[in-house]
Amino acid sequence: MLESRPDTMARITTPELAKAYIDERVEMLRKQIGDKKVLLALSGGVDSSVVAALLIKAVGQQLVCVHVNHGLLRKGEPEQVIKVFRDEMNANLIYVDATDRFLDKLAGVTDPEQKRMIIGGEFIDVFAEEARKLDGIDFLAQGTIWPDILESEAGIKAHHNAGGLPEDMKFELVEPVRILFKDEVRVVGKELGLPDNMVYRQPFPGPGLGVRCPGAITRDRLEAVRESDAILREEFAKNGLEGKVWQYFTVVPDFKSTGVKDGKRTFDWPCIIRAINTTDVMEVTVEHLSDELIDHLVQRIINEVPGINRVLFDYTPKPPATVEYE
Ligand code: XMP
Repeated sequence: MLESRPDTMARITTPELAKAYIDERVEMLRKQIGDKKVLLALSGGVDSSVVAALLIKAVGQQLVCVHVNHGLLRKGEPEQVIKVFRDEMNANLIYVDATDRFLDKLAGVTDPEQKRMIIGGEFIDVFAEEARKLDGIDFLAQGTIWPDILESEAGIKAHHNAGGLPEDMKFELVEPVRILFKDEVRVVGKELGLPDNMVYRQPFPGPGLGVRCPGAITRDRLEAVRESDAILREEFAKNGLEGKVWQYFTVVPDFKSTGVKDGKRTFDWPCIIRAINTTDVMEVTVEHLSDELIDHLVQRIINEVPGINRVLFDYTPKPPATVEYE
C-alpha cells in the first residue's frame, strides 16, 4: 500500500514539527530497510538532498548516493554536493562526471524536445550503469513529494519518479518525503542541517543549462551561460534578492552581433537576463531591477564572461512567454 498524506496531518512549519517528522521517518526507514542497501540519484536539488540527509541519518553507509554530473549543472553545484554529502555528512557518494558523454550526444542537436530526450535518456543510462556495478542493492530512494502524486492523479503531469530504469532492475521504493509539500521539505531539510542555498534554492529544470543554451549546445556558449548565471546569482545574493525572487537566470542565444572592445571590433553573443516571480508558474510577472543593479550586472557580464558583448533584459510576462526559452 502506497502511503498517502493523512487528511489530519498538520503542516510542518516549525523546527519542532520538522524534528518530530524526522524522528518518525528515521524509525520507519530503519524498519523498512533493515541491514539492506539503498540507492539514490542525488541531483543536489531540494527533494533528493533532503531524502539523502534523512537516509544518512537513518542508515548511514547503507545508502549509496550517485551524483551524475551531466555537464549542464550550474557553477559550483557538483562541488557543493560532494562537500556537503561526502565531506560533511560522510555519505557513501559515487560521483560520475559524464560531461563528455552528454555533450557529445548533444552535439549538433537543435530541437528542444530532442535535447530533453537525449538528456533524460542518457541520465537513466548512466545511473543504471552505476547501479549495475553495485552488489546487493534492494531499495531505490526517490524524492517524490505530495504535489507530484496529486498532479499525476489529476493527469497534469506524468509522475516522473519511479520511471525509466530498465525492466530487469527491480527495487523496492523508499519515498521518505512522499507526503510532504515543498515548503515542508524545506523546513525538514533545514532541520537536518542542510545549507540554506540548498534548501531554499530556486527551481532548476532537469535538463539544466541545456535549455538556456538554445539550439545546438557548444562548450564555449554553455560556459558563457554558466559564468553569467554565476554572476547573476552572486549579485542577487549580495543585493538581498536571493530567496525573494522566484527564479532568475541567464540565456545565451545562438546568434552574434557586432561590438567593440579595446578599440577592436568584436563579434560575440548577447546574454539575456530573466528574473521572474510567480506562485503557480502558470502565470509569471517580471522582477523589476534597480537601474544601479542593471548597470552593475551589465558591466560584470561584459567584462568577465568570454564571448559576450551585449546584455539584454527579458521583461516579458508569462503568458505569452514561458519561463524557459526551450
Ligand atoms: P516554463 O518554461 O514551462 O517553466 O514556463 C515553468 C517552470 O518549470 C521549469 N521547467 C522545467 N523543469 N524540467 C524541469 O524539471 C524541464 O524540462 C523544465 N522546463 C521548465 C522552469 O524552470 C520553470 O520553473
